[in-house]
Amino acid sequence: MSASTSASARIAPAGKPAEVASGAKRERVFSGIKPSGTPTLGNYIGAIRHWVAEQDIYDNIYCVVDLHAITVPQDPEELRFNTRQLYALLVASGLDPARSAIFVQSHMHEHAELAWVLDCVTPMGWLNRMTQFKSKAGSDRELASAGLYTYPVLMAADILIYHADAVPVGEDQKQHVELARDVANTFNNRFGETFVEPRPIVRTVGARIMSLDDPSKKMSKSESENSYISMIDEPAAIRKKIARATTDSERTIVFDEKRPGIFNLLAIYQSLTGRSQDAIEAEFEGKGYKEFKAALADAVVETLEPIQQRYKALMADPDGLERLMAEGAAKVQPTAQATLQTVLEKVGLR
Ligand code: AMP
Ligand code: TRP
Repeated sequence: MSASTSASARIAPAGKPAEVASGAKRERVFSGIKPSGTPTLGNYIGAIRHWVAEQDIYDNIYCVVDLHAITVPQDPEELRFNTRQLYALLVASGLDPARSAIFVQSHMHEHAELAWVLDCVTPMGWLNRMTQFKSKAGSDRELASAGLYTYPVLMAADILIYHADAVPVGEDQKQHVELARDVANTFNNRFGETFVEPRPIVRTVGARIMSLDDPSKKMSKSESENSYISMIDEPAAIRKKIARATTDSERTIVFDEKRPGIFNLLAIYQSLTGRSQDAIEAEFEGKGYKEFKAALADAVVETLEPIQQRYKALMADPDGLERLMAEGAAKVQPTAQATLQTVLEKVGLR
């Protein structure tokens, strides 16, 4: 099977062929998100919201990557809960199971099998250059799991098994997508055309939402409570966290990168309202931080409240959620199975 024929095995969601009116094939996108805690407003603004907005442009596959989560220790009960919670939040945010394939990585055993084959064609030297391993492994690298080390190869398997053309990710994951490209190219050279070489899609606006109490750090669920807004925070908690967010001793409310605290809050406001910087600066001319922070809190609450309502309804129906997950996996399974079979044959394992 050539890369082009296998890439044409499109995921066509029910009632919606993955072809646009012109007859041209839609590009396929694949992305993943780890169930390693409740997702934050940073995950929503930097990733989820774009996936939702672009559903009609691409042929979409989105994955809750629980196998990636266990590259660092996880409490089993929490992992089970976080996986369901993240899945529900993706759907509640507007990822539509009818227009996108949304599934849980470990429900598809083909990913791990393909990852093993790819592990065997990936030089260690490439993995040694991965900056995320260096930062996540901590001070004692000898104690980091082998899974954390080969994490990028599993990620390559996720992407390549569906012949994804593009991978929307944050800046920090660009290096991993480039590795996936190199792995695809190496495999193709050794065994003949098999994989599409994917390209990263990295966004600039809202790509890095910073911590509320230390705007030099990325907003992350692994930092202190007051540093991030979780997607399920109650309105009162959201207002409180924003009210105490770090600003500075100046007065004006303007987009100035040299004032990282207020700049970050303005960037959040801009992403959520979709308004221009000029319009926002005009709105708050002559006003104080207190008024701006109240308006920002309103915007965050308005964004998250409807998502939280849908989230609660999804979580209140565990069987329904289970069914959605199973349907998502069923949609992608034929492609994953076909790719794995081709790979096993090419390598001489079948
Ligand atoms: P993770 O939570 O590390 O699995 O990341 C999932 C997605 O959310 C990736 O595409 C990240 O780049 C994105 N993301 C995570 N934190 C932020 C943040 N503070 N600002 C913008 N995007 C983020
Ligand atoms: N490593 C990604 C992250 O930390 C998550 C991920 C796993 C992923 N597999 C993927 C992202 C495949 C894009 C494509 O954010």
